[in-house]
Amino acid sequence: MTTAQELIRKAEKRETLFGIIGLGYVGLPLAVELANAGYRVLGYDISQRVVDSLNKGKSHIKDISDAQLEKVVKGGLFSATTDPNRLGEPDAISICVPTPLSKFKDPDVSYIVAATDAIKKTLRKGQAIILESTTYPGTTREIMLPALESTGLKVGADFFLAFSPERVDPGNPKFLTKNTPKVVGGITPACLEVASALYQPAIDTLVPVSTTEAAELVKLLENTFRSVNIGLVNEMAIVCDKLGVDVWEVIEAAATKPFGFMKFLPGPGLGGHCIPIDPHYLAWKMRGLNYKTRFIDLAGELNTEMPEFWVRKLSEALNGQGKAVRGASVLVLGVAYKRNIDDIRESPALDIIRLLKGQGANVTYSDPHVPKFREDGTEFRSVALTPETVAAADCVMIVTDHSSVDYHMIKRTARLVVDTRNALPKET
Ligand SMILES: NC(=O)c1ccc[n+]([C@@H]2O[C@H](COP(=O)([O-])OP(=O)(O)OC[C@H]3O[C@@H](n4cnc5c(N)ncnc54)[C@H](O)[C@@H]3O)[C@@H](O)[C@H]2O)c1
Repeated sequence: MTTAQELIRKAEKRETLFGIIGLGYVGLPLAVELANAGYRVLGYDISQRVVDSLNKGKSHIKDISDAQLEKVVKGGLFSATTDPNRLGEPDAISICVPTPLSKFKDPDVSYIVAATDAIKKTLRKGQAIILESTTYPGTTREIMLPALESTGLKVGADFFLAFSPERVDPGNPKFLTKNTPKVVGGITPACLEVASALYQPAIDTLVPVSTTEAAELVKLLENTFRSVNIGLVNEMAIVCDKLGVDVWEVIEAAATKPFGFMKFLPGPGLGGHCIPIDPHYLAWKMRGLNYKTRFIDLAGELNTEMPEFWVRKLSEALNGQGKAVRGASVLVLGVAYKRNIDDIRESPALDIIRLLKGQGANVTYSDPHVPKFREDGTEFRSVALTPETVAAADCVMIVTDHSSVDYHMIKRTARLVVDTRNALPKET
């Protein structure tokens, strides 16, 4: 039996020990899904705090409840460690570490490099390594493969290397890790076969592609598609504002066309660890090949201008009531980057708050999912959303449209509302 056949046999019998590097928004749901499929899972993270709480059955990720985690911890199917020497134990390792941007908006693949170095130290015959972190095309082959083959082991024969992008959509109750189709690309055909066999018990639909580069690019296309389309509707919001037309009415009516149109909504700008960041990975790669990705750059420009657009709208609205931004009390409603989640990474609310404070406004915020956060050295604490706090503000600015908020109350009580999400009811 070849090494590949042995790994596939182990997966079929759920004898595989699955390792997950990085137990965040992506790694933890994947770990739980693999454990639910019957695998034993060993999570590895550099954060002692995360590892300790997971081993106690306490989840730090909203999409995974304590009950879900406890079930797999108590069942002996999941445990976590900070010990990199244990990375020689798993038969398969999925890497789910962050891929942020550097200060100059270039890809920061240092976490992937660190994870690869850790794996390299204990790499053994019969291991499959799968990169899940979003990254530029070529990362798996150009960075990981030479590092892992420097051990003397041969890809496709001794160990297996693949890329399979995570598609988790935090806060989405309908599409979870299991029922979201998963794209897989291998360095060799055997790598693809092994990686697919490993995921098959945990994921309903697998989508094989011919190379790791194709798989890497699939993820970047998906997120660039969103960024460009959100950029387009954000520009449409500016256009409609100048024309005195309701952009949301236009979009809803356009969306009645049963073919050839897909609905995207304007808002205060992009947020999260994916859409504002991932397209820059592709733009950077293409700059190195002397090609300028114009759609990516333009969408990035439009989307990052939106906080300024909305602060200008707020300033005009206050002006209409004979007030200035300086000295006005502004209650920002929602700081998470999208509805019903607690993640503030890259949230446009942070830009909006910075701009308002820069103009001298007294800014408070309320967010049922984010009790406090720290930004630019200042700690902010969510205020209770009551008729009193709403009425006390010169202006309420709706930045995130969490569904638990009583928008009728806001509409009834607020002196002035700037609604970046079309959250206010049309009728009282
Ligand atoms: N969050 C999302 O919605 C989402 C969706 C799809 C894809 N992705 C991609 O998945 C990847 C992970 O994102 P995330 O949101 O889960 O990040 P995260 O910050 O929530 O989690 C990353 C975890 O990795 C750990 N870590 C960092 N360096 C490590 C190392 N060297 N060894 C072990 N652990 C390490 C951190 O302590 C943290 O717990 C990124 O590439 C991201 O672009 C994210």
